[in-house]
Amino acid sequence: MKDNVSIIGSAHTNVNHDSAVKHVTGQADYTDDIALPEGALHAYLGVSDVAHAKLLGIDFSEVLAMPGVVGVLTADDVPGANDISPTHLNDEPVFPTDAIQFHGQPLFAVIAETRDIARRAAERAKIEYETLPHALDPITAQKAGYPHVTAPLKLERGDVAPAQAAAPNRIKGRMSVGGQDHMYLEGHIAFAIPGEDDDVVVHCSTQHPSEAQHMVAHVLGVTSNAVVVNVRRMGGGFGGKESQMNLFCAVAAMAAKKWNRAVKIRPDRDQDMTATGKRHDFVIDYDVAFDDEGRIQAVEGSFAARCGFSADLSGPVTDRALFHADNAYFYPNVRLNSRPMKTNTVSNTAFRGFGGPQGVVAAERMIEEIAYATGQDPLDVRKANFYGTKDRNVTPYHQEVEDCILDRLVGELEETSEYRQRRQDIIAFNKTSPVLKKGIALTPVKFGISFTATWYNQAGALVHVYNDGSIHLNHGGTEMGQGLNTKVAQVVAEAFQVDFNRIKITKTTTEKVPNTSATAASSGTDLNGMAALNAVEQIKERLVKFASETWSVSPEEVVFHANQVHIGQDVLAFDAFIKQAYLARVQLSAAGFYKTPKIHWDRAKGQGRPFYYFAYGASCSEVTIDTLTGEYRVDRTDLLHDVGRSLNPVLDKGQVEGAFIQGMGWLTTEELWWDDAGRLRTHAPSTYKIPLASDRPRIFNVNLADWSENRELTIKRSKAVGEPPFMLGISVFEALSMAVASVADYRECPRLDAPATPERVLMAVARLQAGS
Ligand code: MTE
Ligand code: HPA
Ligand code: MOS
Repeated sequence: MKDNVSIIGSAHTNVNHDSAVKHVTGQADYTDDIALPEGALHAYLGVSDVAHAKLLGIDFSEVLAMPGVVGVLTADDVPGANDISPTHLNDEPVFPTDAIQFHGQPLFAVIAETRDIARRAAERAKIEYETLPHALDPITAQKAGYPHVTAPLKLERGDVAPAQAAAPNRIKGRMSVGGQDHMYLEGHIAFAIPGEDDDVVVHCSTQHPSEAQHMVAHVLGVTSNAVVVNVRRMGGGFGGKESQMNLFCAVAAMAAKKWNRAVKIRPDRDQDMTATGKRHDFVIDYDVAFDDEGRIQAVEGSFAARCGFSADLSGPVTDRALFHADNAYFYPNVRLNSRPMKTNTVSNTAFRGFGGPQGVVAAERMIEEIAYATGQDPLDVRKANFYGTKDRNVTPYHQEVEDCILDRLVGELEETSEYRQRRQDIIAFNKTSPVLKKGIALTPVKFGISFTATWYNQAGALVHVYNDGSIHLNHGGTEMGQGLNTKVAQVVAEAFQVDFNRIKITKTTTEKVPNTSATAASSGTDLNGMAALNAVEQIKERLVKFASETWSVSPEEVVFHANQVHIGQDVLAFDAFIKQAYLARVQLSAAGFYKTPKIHWDRAKGQGRPFYYFAYGASCSEVTIDTLTGEYRVDRTDLLHDVGRSLNPVLDKGQVEGAFIQGMGWLTTEELWWDDAGRLRTHAPSTYKIPLASDRPRIFNVNLADWSENRELTIKRSKAVGEPPFMLGISVFEALSMAVASVADYRECPRLDAPATPERVLMAVARLQAGS
């Protein structure tokens, strides 16, 4: 019955991002493109210029005197709770009442007829305060007796002390790992339109519309059903819009309700960079014990993070750092502690990898230490410590690794990249090249997929089939460039067996799918793809019942295939069939739901199965450094990444490439610099250097492990791709480290801190040369 005709854009095919053409032609609508209604106002934040102080009062007389200013919003104007803490710890006010806790902290908002007026007027406020001593970094904060922003986590397995005592070798060290600004192309923005009664509609750029909705309701003192949050798309989020939109949404909504006019708030780039959180920087103390072959016997680690003035997501972020402090390696005995330190800086937040990368970098540093101490190729040390499949497969959080494919994945990349030969060639090159030095490294990644907050692992979708056969798809996830909408639409297209372009991808709105989770933890497709599939299956079940009853055939004889429905001997076009189903009063709409099976987590015990499965990857990079200037370039990178059975190979490759470059930027040129007063000095692209097109590897080979298939029943056996390849950037960092080590004949582990800016590379070279 089935012919070879197939549909366009089913799962596992290369469908372009549904908005690709709109992105590059400027036709894609972002929040700032929404036409303003008559009388719309603009808000701008006024911020502190001191890191820690007692707030005595604010004199707004010059602000209010400025023509075009409509008014100001302060803590006194908050009708409900003055709290936007995502974890409900009540430690993050919309605007503070008596304490300034970081330089650049929003203290009030000016509302004016134009954005320019609001922005200029905000500068004219006179803030009265009494300064207090401040602590900017986690170590200073620890010394000053600052508290943790949230309870620390401890992971422990085995018996560390006896293993340390018995091990022939032991190395202790400290590593600093820098933070990162999200540098999304589209900054934060919120646009609120007041409605009747308590109602308000907020258009904004967020990964978490439900939280924005709940937070606006909380701040306004109304119930959630009065608030609608809409997100068509973001111009990038990268974790920076998982919680940080709360402030902007709350301000826009409060002002809209206060003046009963639409209000938009959009900070400029400098304010976006200073007033919103970033990736956590860490200071990591490690203690690794190992045998003479380089096999790890015991690991102890303490992970202190600069969390900023409030908890925000620092609890789960620092937890995830510990969950990834093993990376791909089995630690027979291990004890890991997180130190989520309060500091007088902006409250740090989610960023691609969510603390995981900081943990993985620490694991890779320990591998390097062992390699230099035992005189081995670091790749051999890595391989000797990989998780096994039958034994040596329990993580520090007591989850068994059941799906480790690193032997094959790394083995393949080792071959295709010709790692061994090139490493020999590089060592030979370095002997005869006095100024330019090369390095090469091949690093693995293992990344746990699922939100560690187990209840977050649920999703909903709403699918309508209209009586002309067109399909309207809505799910709880948000589109930030990653291609989530495309992938979910592919799943729906395949399930209905219709062409991809029959499916209308629509904005995410809290009106259609309630109580959604953030589009985060790389789980967007896993969760929403399954929820959408569930909705389609419900509709199809009704359609099959209708067809089998009406045509008097068995349900098995009703088959959806290639834009048609086969019913016994009859063949109908999909739309003609739908029209008949409609006339027969079949319900053509369904709400789907999904929750991830198998996972559980007991944080107090530090035990459970927080992750449904793991995604794997490997990366090999070669670099050249200039030992006179510290400058470097990436000569070649080969990536091999595991996305299970890819739903869309071109989109997945795009994610892998982008994540690698972003990870490389984090560890090389992107440096956040606060001065002693606590002022972020790198608050614009002029001083904060993200990778340019010209910084990409000169040779860049990117491949998916096309043989991989998720052993768990994920959507079409695919694996999450958003975050795991971020950590592929670590191969560049380790290659830089090898190039540095060459100046002292590889006798010593260079102990580079991240980011390895040219300045740090130069200093590390000088340090090693002086020692040798
Ligand atoms: N890709 C693009 N283009 N833009 C983004 O903002 N965010 C990343 C990743 N890839 C991001 C991206 C982050 S932090 C996550 S968690 C995932 O996408 C979220 O989307 P997903 O769960 O649908 O993969
Ligand atoms: N990852 C990303 N975002 C999150 C998580 C997580 O594990 N938990 C809560 N928000
Ligand atoms: Mo991604 S950091 O989980 O938004």
